[in-house]
Amino acid sequence: MSTKYDVIVIGAGPAGYVAAIRAAQLGLKTACIDKMVDADGKQTLGGTCLNVGCIPSKALLDSSWKYHEAKDALDVHGISTSDVKIDVEAMIGRKRQIVKNLTGGVAALFKANGVDALAGKGKLLANKQVEFTANDGAVETYDAANVIISTGSVPINIPVAPVDNDVIVDSTGALEFTEVPKRLGVIGAGVIGLELGSVWARLGADVVCLEAQEDFLFMMDKQIAKEAKKTFTQQGLDIRLGARVTGSKVNGSEVEVTYQNAKGEEEKVTFDKLIVCVGRRPFTEGLLAADSGVELDERGFIFVDEQCATAVPGVYACGDVVRGPMLAHKGSEEGVMVAERIAGQKAQVNYDIIPNVIYTHPEIASVGLTEEQVKANGIDYNIGLFPFAASGRAMAANEAKGTVKMIADAKTDRIVGFHIIGPSAADLVQQIAIAMEFGATAEDIGMIVFSHPTLSETVKESALAVNGHAIHVA
Ligand code: FAD
Ligand code: NAI
Repeated sequence: MSTKYDVIVIGAGPAGYVAAIRAAQLGLKTACIDKMVDADGKQTLGGTCLNVGCIPSKALLDSSWKYHEAKDALDVHGISTSDVKIDVEAMIGRKRQIVKNLTGGVAALFKANGVDALAGKGKLLANKQVEFTANDGAVETYDAANVIISTGSVPINIPVAPVDNDVIVDSTGALEFTEVPKRLGVIGAGVIGLELGSVWARLGADVVCLEAQEDFLFMMDKQIAKEAKKTFTQQGLDIRLGARVTGSKVNGSEVEVTYQNAKGEEEKVTFDKLIVCVGRRPFTEGLLAADSGVELDERGFIFVDEQCATAVPGVYACGDVVRGPMLAHKGSEEGVMVAERIAGQKAQVNYDIIPNVIYTHPEIASVGLTEEQVKANGIDYNIGLFPFAASGRAMAANEAKGTVKMIADAKTDRIVGFHIIGPSAADLVQQIAIAMEFGATAEDIGMIVFSHPTLSETVKESALAVNGHAIHVA
């Protein structure tokens, strides 16, 4: 006889594990299936984000930044260091330990909330039945009143640079280098390319980013993207725009990449390691029986409505496997929404206010519309700009590079977009995400008392600048 669950979640990434915990909190009998295993063959929860995404990449970003500071950025404070070294093995070991702690933490949360963690593959059959193939090969079928699919995404492969997990790697391989490559190639100057390119550049690699688009960070506010390009170039990242990779040839421990440059000329460049990071695609392989009733859209995402419901009543999908930005926090909020809707509540995600961060140094963060989108929507707007160069706290920290940009509707003064390149941008952007949720105007922010001296004052000053009366900039 098969076990009956109120909710079966397939995939334990930030969308799925959060959905499972929330469902259990709401009194629903819940199981969460995930096939991912660690180096010892044991189930590891947390999906891409905790195992090979957000967390390990930030661990390496933080380690490499500390190395860079110790080596090159402390003199200005009167601190001299000598013979600063990086032990790559120790750095990677620390990253693995952080991953272990956090994935173990999810297992503990499952236990505490009474979620059954099932190690293996899930497949959706007709009538909300789920076929479970355990990692040891045993097959069982479960009945579920509700199914949540959160099988995430995987890197896109390109035939001109096939990943061999040795010289040519994807983002997962780039988190596991055993030494600093002397010459590092990156195909795709997007989020992963810039974050992981920065890690290895700080540790001494010569990094070349080959980006197909002519516009750098084309989805971002153009003014911020322009400043970002200048800053990364000054940091030594060699970003080649309009570069169309046409082939690659591995010769022993190096790879020769051929590409067409922005002028249409052929160029060749040789690397010791090459990271392919040209985007990710939704992962649904082996997931849906032909009669499951769940459909994919033309790009391979599971087709869902605004509330993450598929065409089959009681079957939902959330996270990277559905439309919208491929971000952990977007998936988690969808997971909560779905669990609460299953429990009869009326939860909803506000897709207009999802912050986005690139964890380079300085960080780049945004929420809401870019200036280009505001223009395209025909909205009259005012802009408030404030440079970190005018922030006392940023100067004290020797972090006085970057800009804060607030965009407000000219008629209502409501904030419609907010963009930062600068220190602690990831945390500063959240202030305006909160403000936008409450429908705040720039004037509202300008009237709030901010502690002095803080980086946050730049947010207030940008709000004052929207209405032409910033105090600390002419
Ligand atoms: P995933 O995390 O991909 O999890 C899906 C899970 O489903 C996996 O564990 C997989 O094993 C499992 N699965 C798939 N199919 C089956 C099946 N049939 N049966 C059982 N299990 C299955 N986002 C941010 O917001 N901030 C960041 O800083 C950030 N950094 C990133 C850095 C890197 C290098 C990468 C690659 C991504 C990063 N992301 C970041 C993106 C983030 O990781 C994803 O948006 C997030 O993990 C998506 O969550 P998810 O739950 O939808 O899917
Ligand atoms: P991306 O979409 O951010 O960037 C891919 C880049 O590759 C784009 O600039 C694109 O123009 C370029 N490109 C595509 N095909 C190419 C080709 N053939 N040759 C050269 N360039 C090519 O994708 P990325 O960096 O792989 O990251 C995937 C996703 O993971 C992100 O979109 C994001 O959703 C998520 N992520 C989020 C992070 C964060 O929130 N900080 C960090 C890392 C990943």
